This record gives sequence, C-alpha cells and structure tokens, in this order.
Amino acid sequence: MIPREILDKIDENRTRYVEELLGFLRIPSISTYSHHAADVRRAADWVLHHLKRIGFQAKICRTERHPVVLAHSLVHPDAPTLLIYGHYDVQPPEPLEEWISPPFSPSIRDGCVYARGASDDKGQLFTYLKAMEAVLAVAGNLPINVKLLVEGEEEIGSPSLGRFLVEHRDELQCDAIAISDSSQFGQGIPAITYALRGLCYLQVDLQGPRFDLHSGSFGGLVANPVQVLAEILAGLKTLDGRVAIPGFYDDVVDLDQQEREMMDALKLDEDALKEYLGVDELTGEPGYSPFERKTARPTLDVNGIWGGFSGEGAKTIIPARAGAKVSMRLVPNQKPEKINRLFSDFVHSMTPRGIKLEITELHGATPVLIQRDHAVMKAASRAIEIGFGRTPVHVREGISIPVVNLFEELLEPESILMLGWGSPDDGTHSPNERFHLDDFHRGIRAVAALLYEMKGA
Ligand code: BES
Ligand code: MN
Ligand code: MN
Repeated sequence: MIPREILDKIDENRTRYVEELLGFLRIPSISTYSHHAADVRRAADWVLHHLKRIGFQAKICRTERHPVVLAHSLVHPDAPTLLIYGHYDVQPPEPLEEWISPPFSPSIRDGCVYARGASDDKGQLFTYLKAMEAVLAVAGNLPINVKLLVEGEEEIGSPSLGRFLVEHRDELQCDAIAISDSSQFGQGIPAITYALRGLCYLQVDLQGPRFDLHSGSFGGLVANPVQVLAEILAGLKTLDGRVAIPGFYDDVVDLDQQEREMMDALKLDEDALKEYLGVDELTGEPGYSPFERKTARPTLDVNGIWGGFSGEGAKTIIPARAGAKVSMRLVPNQKPEKINRLFSDFVHSMTPRGIKLEITELHGATPVLIQRDHAVMKAASRAIEIGFGRTPVHVREGISIPVVNLFEELLEPESILMLGWGSPDDGTHSPNERFHLDDFHRGIRAVAALLYEMKGA
C-alpha cells in the first residue's frame, strides 16, 4: 500500500505539476512535419532532462527519424519490473482558426488545460513522471524496478520502433508494460483497456479497357470496371450488415457471458451517440449491441472509392479504371494474414473475365486480448481506486495500437496495462484539445499507487 505521505506530497504539489506541464506543452513537437524536427528533438531533450532531474538514469537514442528516450530506476534484481511507454510527439494542430487559445500556448479554462498534446499524450505521460518524482522524493527509492520508453514517432505510425525493440530487447526486459496512451470510459469513470481490434487495410484496383471508351461505340462489348467494383463491394456484406466473405468469422472468439453483462452494465448512451454522430439510427451486425459492435465485433468498411467521370454535366464513357480502399477491424483470434487471403480469394472469385484485378495490402495489426484476472491487472485496479476514488471498468477498445503488437511479440511481458486518464471528449487530434486537471491529478495519484500495488503482485 502506498504511504500516506506520498499522496499528501502529490496533493501539495498539484499547482507546480500543472505549471511544469505547461512548459512541455509549449514545445510544438509535431512529428509529421519535417520543419518541426528540431522541436521534436527539443521535446525529447525536455523529457530526458526531466527524468534525470527526478533521479532516473536516462539517455537519448537516435533512430532514422525522431529519437527515443530510454530511462530506468532499478531497485533490486528480484523486484518486478514495469516498463512504461508513452509518446512526446503530437498531431498537427490545424485548422488553427478553430482554436480558442493557440495550440502551443497552453491555457487553463473550466478546470482543463487546453493545448495540442494536453491529453494525447504529454499530459498523460507527465503523470508518470510526477508520480515517480513524488515517490523518489519521499521514499528515496521506487518500490519496483521501472524502465521508461518514450517515443517521438507514435503519431506517424511508430516506423522506427520495431527495429528499436529488436536492438534493445535485453535492455527492455520487463514483467509488465503500462501503456499510458488510452482513455477513461467517460470523464471520471476510469477504465482499464483489455482488448484492441486488429486491422487489415487493402486497396483494390480494377482495370478494364486500356483507356476510357465512347459508351455508344463500345457499350455492350466490355465489362465496366466501375460497375464491377460496385458489385464486388456490395457483395462484401449482406444487407443486414454481416461480412459476407466466406470464413471471415471462423476464428472469432465470441464474447463470454460475463463480458456481455459487463458491457451492458456500462450503459453506452446511444441517444447521445446518435446526436454526436448526426445520424438517426445506429446500424450494424445483428445480434449485438452498439457497444459490442464498436469494440468486440469485426467490421468491414469501404473508406473511399474512385472511378469514371464525376465532373460537371455528362460525359458518355465506359471508364478504364476503378478502385477502392477497404479496411477490416479484426477481433481476437482473427489473423490479418488469413483475413487478407480470404478477402483476396473472394474478390478474385467475384471479378469477371475482361477485368484485371490488383489488390495491395496497406496496413496490418493483430488484435489484442489481455487476461483480465492477471495479478498485475488487479494491482492496477486497486491503484486506480486509490487515485480516482472508484474502481475502473474493464473495456475493449475498437481502435488498434500497433505498438502493443510489437511489445507482445518482442518483449513477451506477462501482462500489458493499457491505462489512460484522458476523457473521450478531450478532442485529441482535434482543435481545442484539452485535459481535465482533476484527471491529471488523479492520474498522478494512481500511478504512484500502482508502483506499490505491483510490488506484491
Ligand atoms: N492515443 C492514440 C490512440 C488512442 C486513441 C487510444 C483513442 C485510445 C483511445 C494514439 O496517439 C493515436 O492517435 N494513434 C493513431 C495511430 C496512427 C497515427 C498510426 C491512431 O489510432 O489513429
Ligand atoms: Mn496517443
Ligand atoms: Mn494520437
């Protein structure tokens, strides 16, 4: 159990922690813009110096693009080791005119700090630093071994991380990993995420005649690629919303009864969701609730489609080409390689003679499902209760976080904790991103408590 003095220390220093966070938020560490590379580097240095100041051994590791900050504070070889992951890079802030206060001039209003990166992920990451600062200041040592990996390429898809983990595998050995980059279920309703969906993203290109043809001179002679594409896409799903690719659902692990009850109890506000989305109906696979459908069921979506003439007026042609981008979100135990193959076989079977088909795989991620009753999860639950005054709910997330796959494969930890103190309406990636200062404070308390709860776990 965490000593009372540490929680008191955190409470006493609340204002200072916020002031320090503002300094971090002022750095425009936008990883996708090459003209901000020096700022990204400055943010890495900021994290490095901060870690050194609170008592960590820390270093900067170069990658092909943006650096990784590695740090550790080790107490004893027999103590459990927690690896903490976060990112110091941020998304671009545009459109700038929609920000009430400028994205890199943090401003405090209605109990929140507004800035790009406030919630995703600088504010959340900083809770770990401040929690460990408080523990080190009061106790002199952390109760467990802690390693930190803070990257600067998350928002561009972590292109260097795979290689980095292979090269630093031994250095990063750990028992559990805490990913500080997800969110609460609702503001003030903390959550532990125990599952993520996987992803298959493909491009379909169809080629008919060599060039666009006069539809009067040649209509009736050749297959029309736009028509064929429409038929293929329509064939991918049944009218009632199931994916029609043969074998698609074969490996899906269905929700167990306890999970369904847990999700029902969470009471997703469907009316609020409809209003937010601007739709008068939520639709999808029959037999599952909207909450189940958006987190625990696999989906298929057409992301975009092109082909033929769509300019002003009319142009009488048979188009030469058509194409579409299609993504599928996968759930445990679907395998991206197998789903890619089933998709490709099915689309080939629907493509008539006279049309050339090309399928390109663009993105992939394996679904993640983490054991909910692992001792480390229970420790996290107790810690969050200390920090937030209520036990967290356990949720599946519909999104994919590819770094979690990398961690599972390369580091093989006993458990992965996906914890987040942000709220779903923090506006991450949007104008006026914010982070509730209460959540910032409660997050710091929860992290400090986690280190103690993990000691015996
Ligand atoms: N922190 C988010 C991921 C996230 C969002 C977790 C919502 C939990 C709830 C992360 O920074 C992110 O934005 N990831 C990107 C990755 C992409 C840029 C490769 C994403 O999900 O779009
Ligand atoms: Mn993030
Ligand atoms: Mn993000």
